[in-house]
Amino acid sequence: MSQATNTIPFSRPTTPTPPGLQIGFVGLGSMGYFMARNLAKGRPADAAPLLVYNRTASKAERLVQEVGAGSAKMAVSLEQLVNACDVVVTNLANDVVVELYYGEFAKALKAAPPTKPKIFVEASTVYPTVISTIHKVITSFPNCHLVGSPVFGRPPMADAAKLIVVLSGDYHSRKQIAHLLVPAMGRKAMDLGDDVTKAHTLKLIGNSMILGMMELVGEVFTLGQKSGVGQKPVLDLIKDLMPAPPLVKYAEIMASDSFDGSDGFSMDGGIKDANHMRRLANDLNAPAPMIDIAHQHMLTTRALHGAQKAAGMSKYDVVDWSALIAGSRAAAGLDPFDSGDYRVELEN
Ligand SMILES: NC(=O)c1ccc[n+]([C@@H]2O[C@H](COP(=O)([O-])OP(=O)(O)OC[C@H]3O[C@@H](n4cnc5c(N)ncnc54)[C@H](OP(=O)(O)O)[C@@H]3O)[C@@H](O)[C@H]2O)c1
Repeated sequence: MSQATNTIPFSRPTTPTPPGLQIGFVGLGSMGYFMARNLAKGRPADAAPLLVYNRTASKAERLVQEVGAGSAKMAVSLEQLVNACDVVVTNLANDVVVELYYGEFAKALKAAPPTKPKIFVEASTVYPTVISTIHKVITSFPNCHLVGSPVFGRPPMADAAKLIVVLSGDYHSRKQIAHLLVPAMGRKAMDLGDDVTKAHTLKLIGNSMILGMMELVGEVFTLGQKSGVGQKPVLDLIKDLMPAPPLVKYAEIMASDSFDGSDGFSMDGGIKDANHMRRLANDLNAPAPMIDIAHQHMLTTRALHGAQKAAGMSKYDVVDWSALIAGSRAAAGLDPFDSGDYRVELEN
C-alpha cells in the first residue's frame, strides 16, 4: 500500500484540487506558525501563495520572509482573507478567540456572500459546543462548510509535519481537507465522520490520556527524588517498560527541568484544556478523577510560577504544561522547578 492510502482514510477527491485554489491560515502561534509554513511549502508550484493573518503581524512577516513571497503573502485584514480564500484554516488560543474570529468571518460573508464553495477548517482545541455554534453560523451562508480538524502533536511535531489530524464534518469537504493537510502538515488523518463536533471531542479524550499520563509521571519522579533513588532510574524504567514517544518526551522534559513553555504548550493552554476535559466528564456523567488531580497540580504550578515571576526569580516567562510536576514536588516539600542533584542531563 502507498503511504497515502495508509495515512488518509479517504480516496482521492474525484475532482482534483483546482490549481487556483486559494488557501488562507489564521493564527501563527507556536503551532500555527509551523502548520502554515508547511502548508505554504507543500503547495503545488503553480498554486497561489498561502494568505496568512495573525494578530501580531510580525509573526506573519517572519513567515513570509522564511518561505518567500511566492509561497506566502500577508492578508491586509481578516475580511480580505475570508473573501479571497476557498479554504480558511484557523489555529487559535482558545474558545473566546475562535468565536471572536468566526464572528468577524460572518461579517465578511454577510457583506459578500460566496458564489463558490468555501471551507473553514477549525484546528484549535476548543470545547465541542463551540464547533456546533460556529458550524451553525458558517453554514447559514451559501456554499460555506466547516470541518472540525484539531491536531495531536507538540510544536516540534508540527515543525516536522508529523501531526495527527482528526477530521469531522461534511463528507466531501473533509475528504478534500484530508488530502490538503496530509502529508503537507501531518503524518496521518483520522476520520470521525459527519458530526462536526466529534473530532474536537476525540481531541479532548486524547489530551485526557496525555494529561493523566503526565500527572502519573510527575508523581513517580517525585517519589524517585524523595526516596533518594533519583529521577534517572525512573526515567530509564519508563523508557524500557513503556517506550511510548509522548510519554518518554514529557518524562524527559520533567526529569531535566526543561520547563520553558514558549516553544511548547503553555500552562494557560493546558489549564484551558483540563477545564474542557472536566466539563466533558461533567456533561457526560463520566467521572475522570485523574484529570481533576492534574488540574489541581496545574493550578498550584501556575500560582508558584506567578509568584516566582513577580519576584523576578523565574527562569521562564511562560511555563510548559508539563511543569505540573511542580505541584507534586511542592506537596512533597521539594523545590518545584529545580530538582538539583537529581536533574537528569539529556544527551542532546
Ligand atoms: N502547543 C501545543 O503543544 C498544542 C498542540 C496541539 C494543539 N494545540 C492547540 O492549538 C491552539 C494554538 O496553540 P499554541 O500553543 O500555538 O498557542 P499560542 O502560541 O499561544 O498561539 C495562539 C494564537 O492565538 C492568537 N491569539 C491569542 N489571543 C488572541 C486574541 N485575544 N485575539 C487574537 N488572536 C489571539 C495568537 O496571536 P498572537 O501571536 O498575536 O499572540 C496566536 O496566533 C490552541 O487551541 C491549543 O490548545 C496546541
